[in-house]
Amino acid sequence: MSHQAEIERRKKRAAQGGGAARQAARQAPGRLSARERIEFLLDDSSFEEWDQLIEHRATAFGLAHQRIPGDGVLGGVGRVEGRTVFVFAQDFTVFGGSLSEANAAKICKLMDAALRVGAPMIGLNDSGGARIQEGVAALAGYADIFLRNTLASGVIPQLSAILGPCAGGAVYSPAITDFIFMVERESHMFVTGPDVIAAVTHEQVDKEALGGADTHNRLSGVAHFQAADDRDCLRQMRALLGYLPSNNQEDPPRRAAADPAGREAPALETLVPAAGHQPYDVRAALRGVADDGELLEIQEHFAPNLVIGFARLAGRPVGMVANQPAHLAGVLDIDASDKGARFVRFCDAFNLPLITWVDVPGFLPGVQQELGGIIRHGAKLLFAYAEATVPKITVTLRKAYGGAYCVMASKHLRTDLNYAWPTAEIAVMGAEGAVRVLYRKELQALDEAARAAQEKARIEEYRAHFANPFVALERGYLDAVIAPRQTRQHLIRGLEWLQNKRAALPPKKHGNIPL
Ligand code: HXC
Repeated sequence: MSHQAEIERRKKRAAQGGGAARQAARQAPGRLSARERIEFLLDDSSFEEWDQLIEHRATAFGLAHQRIPGDGVLGGVGRVEGRTVFVFAQDFTVFGGSLSEANAAKICKLMDAALRVGAPMIGLNDSGGARIQEGVAALAGYADIFLRNTLASGVIPQLSAILGPCAGGAVYSPAITDFIFMVERESHMFVTGPDVIAAVTHEQVDKEALGGADTHNRLSGVAHFQAADDRDCLRQMRALLGYLPSNNQEDPPRRAAADPAGREAPALETLVPAAGHQPYDVRAALRGVADDGELLEIQEHFAPNLVIGFARLAGRPVGMVANQPAHLAGVLDIDASDKGARFVRFCDAFNLPLITWVDVPGFLPGVQQELGGIIRHGAKLLFAYAEATVPKITVTLRKAYGGAYCVMASKHLRTDLNYAWPTAEIAVMGAEGAVRVLYRKELQALDEAARAAQEKARIEEYRAHFANPFVALERGYLDAVIAPRQTRQHLIRGLEWLQNKRAALPPKKHGNIPL
């Protein structure tokens, strides 16, 4: 047989993956094969496959007689919206998509290339974990990948889709990457599965409740995006990539914007209710200023008291962070702090300007929060904002109280532009709480009727002094009060003059963020 014929024979075998029976067994509505996933993700005909004929080197447990070219993972280079990306997809029909020494080397080769040329790395995971027959060689393969995930962090964007099982230590590769996408009912991630948990702790739980898409998107915060099926997931990955630079040396991709930079948003004038405790959906403000009203929300279902996401302003991608008064009054708690901190650091690493929207009553009081370490978690958000050197613009919509005022990209954390709407209130705490602390003795000395009247008077006095933006304006902690309808113009102008911003940190190996 000629070499060419032999290559064709092997390629044909590689294309069959685990064979017709296993492929048939894997078919389910909305589920694509590994190759279909890659082809759907990438621009048409842009996939160039690498190492298609790689084979495992193991011989124990009958492996010597079961060599499948490609060895359960497809990978290569392609394009998304014309930009280079590297991708691998595990093929569950070949040894359960398990990671062998050989296919780990294949993934590492792609990761090394992605890092070398500064292009995003995308992993489509669908695997039973370390190939059991290969023992430590498979474990070493995982560790090789974890190392590369870590070295590439902050240099190239890394995206992971979980499109089947992802169990044991295997979860830690996606966990180190920047964004995790999961598919409803299809994806499962856990360090130890239901059976082991039942044996060790006697807890009964099914794999959906333990590690399904809803669990990780709503409760644990491990995942960032939830999709209805494979195609929806891959479409979401493409949309996200549209906001990201290929690497940390590039600016995010700018697009021509049809939405005029000077467009006013009259609806924003009445968005913030006059009463301080009345909720509203802050996303209306973000969408109101964004090009074409588009906001790509991230971790939409986790800690909804803080909204994070990407948008464009005059075609420039930006990261948006906003307290959400529609949920828990927009309070900062442990989960919201973690969510915000990681996002701020991502934006800072990848040159995405940060627009912060403030309406926050403070940090959430409570025994559970204190014992859970709100001090440590809240400090992450503070640290992330203080450390960030990208252009930073803050808009205070209503409340900016207490420590949360400092944390939410206040002027004191090197924020470049601090705007306020006329409804802004900046104070150590809300009027009711402050009056109770300051005038407790005075109020206790009065009878009930006189106490209520005096308390009301004190609250009004406090509000007149603090519940406004003037004290901060007089000190330059706010740069200007702006009309809500003109916020888009102000943000776009600010980003323009900030585009060549230079700021640095003192020389150091790295900071010690309170993890
Ligand atoms: C080798 C594996 C495999 C593995 C599955 N297969 N997992 N082969 N190594 N890890 C094979 C099966 O033998 C089977 O082969 C085929 O893949 C499909 O598996 P099924 O069990 O039939 O499929 P299903 O019922 O859908 O169950 C999927 C599964 C289950 C839940 C993933 O296979 C499973 O529990 N696998 C083991 C998971 C695990 O514990 N992995 C180790 C995690 S620890 P045939 O020939 O019958 O088709 C880990 C350490 C990482 O990964 C280390 C990092 C530090």
